[in-house]
Amino acid sequence: MKSRFVTIIALLTAWFSMPGQTLAGVPASGTPADPAPAAVAASGDSAHGKQLFNRYCVVCHGAAGSGGLGPSLKKIESRLSGPQIAHQITEPRAAMPRLYPAPLTEDDVRDVVSYVQTL
Ligand code: HEC
Repeated sequence: MKSRFVTIIALLTAWFSMPGQTLAGVPASGTPADPAPAAVAASGDSAHGKQLFNRYCVVCHGAAGSGGLGPSLKKIESRLSGPQIAHQITEPRAAMPRLYPAPLTEDDVRDVVSYVQTL
């Protein structure tokens, strides 16, 4: 339905109008990105990570990572290591927005990686 389309556009517009978000994932301010946190490989809190995923990632990666605008993250751990998943969040390629260091903190990145590894 048209209303669903409008909702999706509104969601995406909201994403990209967040301060510092651009399509290329480069901070609008032009400040260099923080280095990827070293501790992200340590195991995080996947229950908290699930909440973060449902808030920040689900719009593109679908419920339980089933895919959508972004690729499916099912069985991502067979393709990418924890640090590689964390790197995609902290230094996103292509159309994925930068969500670190805000709104996701270093601990949040670790938690969301733990959850993504369960998909
Ligand atoms: C605005 C849409 C969008 C949002 C929000 C988003 N992503 Fe992505 N993500 C993408 C796109 C598009 C790609 C593919 C990038 C590319 O071309 O390689 C991607 C790629 C990835 C990959 C690599 C997948 C692979 O097969 O290499 C991971 C892991 C990932 N995202 C995790 C996340 C997590 C975790 C979050 C939330 C913190 C998130 N993404 C939020 C759009 C998004």
